[in-house]
Amino acid sequence: MSGSLPIEQVRGLRPAHTENHHDRTGRTPKLDGIAVVGLGYWGPNWIRNLHQLRCARRLIACDLDAARCEHIEALYPGVATTASFEELLNDSGLDAMVIATPVSTHYRLARMALEAGKSVLVEKPLAMSCRESADLVRLSREQGRTLMVGHTFLYSAPVLKIHELIEAGELGDVLYISSTRANLGLFQHDVNVAWDLAAHDISIILMLMGRLPDSVSCQGQSHYGQAVENVALLTMHFPNNVIAFVHVSWLDPNKIRRTTIVGSRKMLVYDDTMPQEKIRVYDRGVNVHRYYDTYGEFHFSYRYGDIQIPRIEESEPLRVECQHFVDCISDGTTPHTDGLDGLRVVSVLEAANLSLRENGRTVPVDRTAV
Ligand SMILES: NC(=O)c1ccc[n+]([C@@H]2O[C@H](COP(=O)([O-])OP(=O)(O)OC[C@H]3O[C@@H](n4cnc5c(N)ncnc54)[C@H](O)[C@@H]3O)[C@@H](O)[C@H]2O)c1
Repeated sequence: MSGSLPIEQVRGLRPAHTENHHDRTGRTPKLDGIAVVGLGYWGPNWIRNLHQLRCARRLIACDLDAARCEHIEALYPGVATTASFEELLNDSGLDAMVIATPVSTHYRLARMALEAGKSVLVEKPLAMSCRESADLVRLSREQGRTLMVGHTFLYSAPVLKIHELIEAGELGDVLYISSTRANLGLFQHDVNVAWDLAAHDISIILMLMGRLPDSVSCQGQSHYGQAVENVALLTMHFPNNVIAFVHVSWLDPNKIRRTTIVGSRKMLVYDDTMPQEKIRVYDRGVNVHRYYDTYGEFHFSYRYGDIQIPRIEESEPLRVECQHFVDCISDGTTPHTDGLDGLRVVSVLEAANLSLRENGRTVPVDRTAV
């Protein structure tokens, strides 16, 4: 997992900014052809980045919905569009595909793309089960093709900064993590809010902790007659009493993107809705002393120290991710968010789903495949 990577390797992610603009002056694009499948809410962001970075000689946009294809044609006259996924499979000049379709279609489309010899980036979460995810990992290895997952936050500068601070021991031992990701909408039809939103927090927490939790419990509720929960609270249990809470909702008056990490030395708050100064490190904590005269009793004193705001040079995470995908294909290197990383996140989601169906029972995380 990316969490086990040395920090310099994680930080070695190229901030995809100016370099590729030189491509306009004649540098050869790294790929012959790349396609984006799914041009709904998220896919056009992939088109924009691939177009601006000039990653491939040909960029093709695919959607079953003709209106979405027309939308992209209007924005990017040089980008070819098609409604036919099969056409992409048979296109021998196409090196890679980005699958940005609804989650329930990920496995089927990614499998066909890998079988056709394409490298594939699948948006998060990789698939709907560990079995499907493990099958994609196996197939990508057999085919010798890159399989990457769109865990976009693992390419964001604030998250990489937090990872760096934890690895450097700045916070001490992590005691607990609490994360909220809430807003009004966008309701999905095929997956619940945990699969849609908590996938981000889980990917971040697995990287920060550098391991899978031992077990997960999850509670949630659906309020609009579908069998799809629109609010959920997921609890991840790690060794040494470390616990992580993830609250996700499509039914909240405010957009909240806030993670608190409490360490034995310091505490950190990451607010991704802030335009700048997204991270604050609080030199606050609790000191525990044993009373001299009363055996077995403890006295707590509270420390209120300085607050630091680390300087972060931000670039669009999706742009960094996009460049990384293309670099991995052309250099033959393993992505930071490879298929196994996708499988780990799905293993937590799968356990959470089982727990949801059983009123929040604590469910062990399946590690057999990872
Ligand atoms: N990484 C991120 O930060 C991030 C953010 C948002 C969404 N996503 C992910 O992106 C994916 C798409 O989400 P969305 O909100 O854009 O969904 P959406 O429903 O808005 O768009 C999906 C599009 O896929 C098209 N489609 C479906 N099946 C197809 C097929 N077989 N061939 C071609 N086109 C097909 C639909 O017509 C639709 O236009 C999901 O996996 C989601 O989890 C990732």
